[in-house]
Amino acid sequence: MNIKKVVVIGSGTMGSGIAAHLCNANIPVALLDLKTEISEKARERIYKSRPPLLIDKSKIDNIKVGNILDNFDLVKDADWVVEAVVERIDIKHQIYKKIFKSRKSGAIVSSNTSSIPIKVLSENLTDEEKKDFCITHFFNPVRYMGLLEIVKNENNDLNKINELKDFCEVELGKGAIICNDTPGFLGNRVGVYAMQVAMTEAFRMKLSVEEADAIFGRPMGIPKTGVFGLYDLIGIDLMADVLKSFIKELPETDEFHEVAKEIPLVKKLIATGYTGRKGKGGFYRMNKAGTKKIMEAIDLGSGDYSPSKKIDIKSDKVDLKALISREDKYGKYAWSVLSKIIKYASSLVPGITKEFNDIDEAMRLGFNWSKGPFEMLEEIGVKNFFNKIDEFKGNDFLENLSNNKIEDFYGQRQKYTNIETLGKVKKNASSIDGNDSAKIYRFNDYNIVEFTTKANALDYDSMDALKNATDKPLIIINESMQFSAGVNLTYTMNFADKNDFKSIEKFIKYFQDTCKHLKYSKYPVISAPSGLTLGGGFEVMVQSNFVASHTNIVIGLVETIVGLIPAGGGCKEMLARWLDTDEAKKDPNYASLKVFDIIGYGKTATSPVEAEPMKYLRPKDKKIMNRNSLLEVSKKILVENKDFKAPDELKFNLPGKSVLKDMNKIIDKLYNDKVILDHGVIVAKELAHVISGGDTTIDKTLSEDDLFKLELDAFMRLIETQKTQDRIKHTLATGKPLVN
Ligand code: NAI
Repeated sequence: MNIKKVVVIGSGTMGSGIAAHLCNANIPVALLDLKTEISEKARERIYKSRPPLLIDKSKIDNIKVGNILDNFDLVKDADWVVEAVVERIDIKHQIYKKIFKSRKSGAIVSSNTSSIPIKVLSENLTDEEKKDFCITHFFNPVRYMGLLEIVKNENNDLNKINELKDFCEVELGKGAIICNDTPGFLGNRVGVYAMQVAMTEAFRMKLSVEEADAIFGRPMGIPKTGVFGLYDLIGIDLMADVLKSFIKELPETDEFHEVAKEIPLVKKLIATGYTGRKGKGGFYRMNKAGTKKIMEAIDLGSGDYSPSKKIDIKSDKVDLKALISREDKYGKYAWSVLSKIIKYASSLVPGITKEFNDIDEAMRLGFNWSKGPFEMLEEIGVKNFFNKIDEFKGNDFLENLSNNKIEDFYGQRQKYTNIETLGKVKKNASSIDGNDSAKIYRFNDYNIVEFTTKANALDYDSMDALKNATDKPLIIINESMQFSAGVNLTYTMNFADKNDFKSIEKFIKYFQDTCKHLKYSKYPVISAPSGLTLGGGFEVMVQSNFVASHTNIVIGLVETIVGLIPAGGGCKEMLARWLDTDEAKKDPNYASLKVFDIIGYGKTATSPVEAEPMKYLRPKDKKIMNRNSLLEVSKKILVENKDFKAPDELKFNLPGKSVLKDMNKIIDKLYNDKVILDHGVIVAKELAHVISGGDTTIDKTLSEDDLFKLELDAFMRLIETQKTQDRIKHTLATGKPLVN
């Protein structure tokens, strides 16, 4: 579809997010609001947003701002006009009148409404106008949320809708699902119901806020914000408005009403300004006692706050079968919530969509669940589910399934797209093996390794899987949120706690051997990162022969933050990249100083555009907007490299002591400025030692193994210090770095 210019009307949360994302796709966009000051402020917000809405901040000027009185002429040139004004039908109707008077013939006009039916939105439009009008419902934050729901009306030109869908897939990287005109469409209908069930069941079963979040979270393959944390994030008042709209729109017989009843505590929180993170707090609040900040959680019975407790449910894996069979209150809560969600979602087929698969995909893309309700049902097992469930009369989907008792009823993932995704391909593997930390999917002409641990943290088994999968071209890719957050520090600390440093050394050595093996094995290795690609995760990526990266990545070497240095080849590869520059050819200290700066600060990039100047990614690495396409692009790389030959081993000429002087000056300044403290100096000196090449001079040539050895020795010296261990433990416990 030829969309060359877009106008977005309404520059609030969604309008600014949509404009920023169009800018990410290099589409010129104008953002209009009631006054130019409002859209100007929105542009500032986009610029400062964290996580950043822009892939490349320097492109901010590609977003023009203006107001709907003086600048409406911009609509005349637009190929697509997106309305994202407040959720009020009178205002939306007025805007459409204005847009359709000005738009060029055939230009698409769409609304970002989350709750107003298209029937109502388009009631004043002519049949001709309706042809080009639809709902394009993006999710917040637009750059990061994969889901786009497209809702048609009966007059739409279907070719045009399909072209718009293709455009949003390819150019904007969205998972675009076409759905029926029903309240909340797919994602919010099931997602909000799920949140309400998780909340009302927690009240009913007398679970604490922290307990509910510990279950309705990672153990179910749901983001760790859980239910109450998510409520706080979205805004408790906003959720109340969303509920009101569902109550108004849905027939009285809809099960939604059961879970949407007003809860006195929630009403009180809103009334007293406890609307969540944007307000005074919510189910959680940060209490500042002197200089200390204490996270507190509310007691659902009394409404009093007390310090939030960490809940250990003694299971680190997503294992639904095991979870719902637990005899304790956690198991009962999990079953109650999950079974209700499955019952509700299945009762909506075919009403909200004839394809149950689309509901699952909406939950995965719009709520970041790793599995939707139907896939959860398949995982629980059909027989198991029907043995446990009480009744499901009137639910055609479940009645059918219970009659047929087909265990593998599910079929493939991602039916909404024609792209050959990882989710689809995995099901066709000729064999699957692997271990607790990674799966190997074997095909005729290539293998896939998918890491499977929490945040895809890497351990001995992850390395083993990689090594065992190099008998063919290998693609390292996964469907979870993160490519890999790095080496599994819990695993490493378990050895340190037993003073078993030999095992740590053995593991790091194996990590190095595996990465070297990936790089030099006979067949090409491709990494396809998305999300966190940090530390050891980056080291796996950087020692692959090719990279196909999603545009949403957070990439870098962050080891110094926990008092370590990269020891899986990260220092080595970064040196190689910086040595291969014109500046390094002129100045022998250049590469070491650059890499010292990047790794020393633990610098990260939040997009390929930020990653390239640091050389975390190279110009030749592929950068892809649609995460679904990572596998196709990786496979294309394989086809293009049929005659692949492993690269020659790297050689290093490093300055040794002669650059240390400069590095020590930097360390001294940081220490004197109190940017780093005593232990920071020790870490920085170890890093300096490695990055300078150790005991060498510029005329000596070092091998990759020499550098691996330098990395390993420095790493071991650091991990044996109490201060580094304290830092790691603090980070594991709090998710935040400890400065010492
Ligand atoms: P918002 O309240 O943040 O922004 C609305 C913007 O529209 C404001 O900047 C306001 O000044 C502007 N506006 C009001 N009347 C206008 C007019 N006549 N002409 C031009 N601009 C006008 O709202 P938000 O959250 O961005 O929502 C926008 C739309 O997106 C709504 O339809 C909402 O239901 C929908 N939506 C919201 C989501 C969210 O998470 N906030 C998610 C998905 C959809």
